[in-house]
Amino acid sequence: MPITQPSRKELPIEVRGTPKLPLGMSTAQFLRDYWQKRPLLIRNAFPDFVLPIEPEDLAGLACEEGALSRLIQHDENRDRWRVKTGPLSESDFAKTGNANWTLLVQDVDKWDMDVAALLDHFSFLPSWRVDDVMISYAEPGGGVGAHVDQYDVFLLQGLGQRHWAISTDPEAPKDFRNDVELKQLQHFAPTHEWLLDAGDMLYLPPGVPHDGVAFGGPCMTFSIGMRAPSQAELVGDLADYLAEHLPEELRYADPDLAPVKRIGEIDKAALKRIRTALPMTTALDDATLSDWFGHFITRYRSAQSPLPPAKPLSEAALAKQLAGGASLLRHPWSRMAWVQAGSHCTLYANGYAYPATVRLAELLCTQRTLSPAPQTNAIEQVLLLALVNDGHLVPRKLRKGHA
Ligand code: SIN
Ligand code: CO
Repeated sequence: MPITQPSRKELPIEVRGTPKLPLGMSTAQFLRDYWQKRPLLIRNAFPDFVLPIEPEDLAGLACEEGALSRLIQHDENRDRWRVKTGPLSESDFAKTGNANWTLLVQDVDKWDMDVAALLDHFSFLPSWRVDDVMISYAEPGGGVGAHVDQYDVFLLQGLGQRHWAISTDPEAPKDFRNDVELKQLQHFAPTHEWLLDAGDMLYLPPGVPHDGVAFGGPCMTFSIGMRAPSQAELVGDLADYLAEHLPEELRYADPDLAPVKRIGEIDKAALKRIRTALPMTTALDDATLSDWFGHFITRYRSAQSPLPPAKPLSEAALAKQLAGGASLLRHPWSRMAWVQAGSHCTLYANGYAYPATVRLAELLCTQRTLSPAPQTNAIEQVLLLALVNDGHLVPRKLRKGHA
């Protein structure tokens, strides 16, 4: 029997999650009907949601050197917005009052393992599509104003209530206000409005105008944001990659050259040769294309990379630590992906390639902590040592007195 797909009209924009189906439907159905296509409000997506981070800790993080934070205040009467970028200080918070301001911190998953654990709920998506968990804290009336994002986002309500307004009108104008540095929309006419409670989650595909405002009391929203490289980024990186890898002798060539008729002209024959010199992706085999993509995607959008340990570990020293029960923590800034080509496997981490086995590559991408460290063959031992000495894996010794 053919599977009949619901028409666009019949698809609900609001559903209720259950413990078995947190998205209110199977992940396959969500991907088929909503992902990159239309918004969805999921009530109760995270029942009894427990905050993985307290507002004070978020404020503390916003004051750290290296954390990406913004403090945004809205003067409602004059419709003026003030944006202060981090690192923030205690005195910045002292001036905020108890309404119409919000603090936003990006990449919190890289700083806090409990926040990173939220991402486990999104493992039905390719892990390398995930950009970060951004967390906002807002007092009533606080928000960033109506805007459009270029990427998919899951807006999970963590604390208090937030009023969300969105527009599903495909014709909605997307011009920015030029008096505010926040890329806010000049015009915003909502088609849908909701009040979200803790545990509710709004999914938005790219390009949907939206505006979230804290309601009633303190409000925390967790934005699980995805990134897809733009064609411009892909082409730019691929061009660099090809420039590095193509042999010198492959170049513009003209063995068929006839005497020049009009000096200086780039004629049709020359254009044809330029095309021959730039076969681009159609001429790339799978191995080359996937090798480039592995390097690119694991470097993509990484604000930082793990630092190697001050002193590299020897093979024997690592083996001794692991035999003593040490576990291996994946560094939060480490971004990994892998490719299998026949019997070979390559692991990519922050733009570098490592020979790997499928088993270990998959394990490393799946688990933040390898505890106990796995039994390894020769390739895997070399891989673990290289990852430790490049800072991607951090050995953590078994604490004395613990089983
Ligand atoms: C917020 O949490 O205040 C903003 C999230 C968003 O609109 O992308
Ligand atoms: Co947004």
